[in-house]
Amino acid sequence: MILLGIETSCDDTSCGLVEDGQRLLSLCTGSQDDLHTNFGGIVPELAAREHCLQLDRVVGRALSEADLSLHSIDAIAVTAGPGLVSSLLTGVTAAKTLAAFLQKPILAVDHLEAHVASLALGEQKPELPLICLLVSGGHTQLRLVESWDRQSILGQTLDDSVGEAFDKVARILGLAYPGGPAIDLLSRDIAHSTELLPESKVTGLNFSFSGLKSAVLRLWEKENNTHSAQLIAASFQQNVVRELTKKLKRASDNLDIKNIAIAGGVSANTALRARLATIFPASEYRIYMPELRFCTDNGAMVAAAGYLCPRSRSLDFAVYAR
Ligand code: KG4
Ligand code: ZN
Repeated sequence: MILLGIETSCDDTSCGLVEDGQRLLSLCTGSQDDLHTNFGGIVPELAAREHCLQLDRVVGRALSEADLSLHSIDAIAVTAGPGLVSSLLTGVTAAKTLAAFLQKPILAVDHLEAHVASLALGEQKPELPLICLLVSGGHTQLRLVESWDRQSILGQTLDDSVGEAFDKVARILGLAYPGGPAIDLLSRDIAHSTELLPESKVTGLNFSFSGLKSAVLRLWEKENNTHSAQLIAASFQQNVVRELTKKLKRASDNLDIKNIAIAGGVSANTALRARLATIFPASEYRIYMPELRFCTDNGAMVAAAGYLCPRSRSLDFAVYAR
């Protein structure tokens, strides 16, 4: 079964073609980073307008790369939420129009479940149940994935998401948007970063990153002569990675589940990926991470989720912000 997946929940216009929720046929993504970089964050009106301009080209390129026509797909999957409503509406309107015109089924997909479904793309489909650390620009959650369509939240951030913290800290340090890749790159040359920032005091399986972001701001304002942007970036990243992996390990211990996964934009982070292997030895745990191209928002994960865990199968569904 070949699904065409459309993703427009935030600032990436993306279309993926996937067979049986697992085999990638093609993926085409139009980034809007250049458009938003001067604002240090996403401007929703600009994002929605850009989706309208890019969607036709992105869908056309995905089809031609897979050497398929619109008539040869079996169904259309589209992100219905959570996300920016104006951005979501562009993709959903395009998907509904295509589905009605082609007389093909339409499958509404939840963006967070799509990030989890990105783990199914590729050779090795994960063993369930698993615990997934879902880290993106909008969310930070620990999810128990019992089956693709049965997931529950074990813990989550009480304030900023971790991606938001990366983006805000990058902005403080004068780095480009999006901040995650910029901090990741800048920190790579620092083998062992010093502890410059306080540890989180949040207990259990929840997270908090807004205090850490304020601590970075105070450090930068007071001591940017003593500590370079590179040292602060590396220290921030180390602090975040420790906190994320500590809670992931706690969830794994609590539930005695040895299948561990990460997903979402921040799962592309080099330090996070490396630390997983240290905390969860391969002799005891199975670790699943999406390929780098499937970490940030993309249409392939939407097509995978349409196959594995659609939320609706009729034209009559609404978009949702949260
Ligand atoms: O999942 P995603 O593409 O969009 C949302 O659903 O929000 O995640 C985007 C977030 C941004 O905050 C970006 O800075 C972060 O993922 N990100 C990274 C890296 N690549 C992207 N954060 C840390 N390290 C990275 N390498
Ligand atoms: Zn996302």
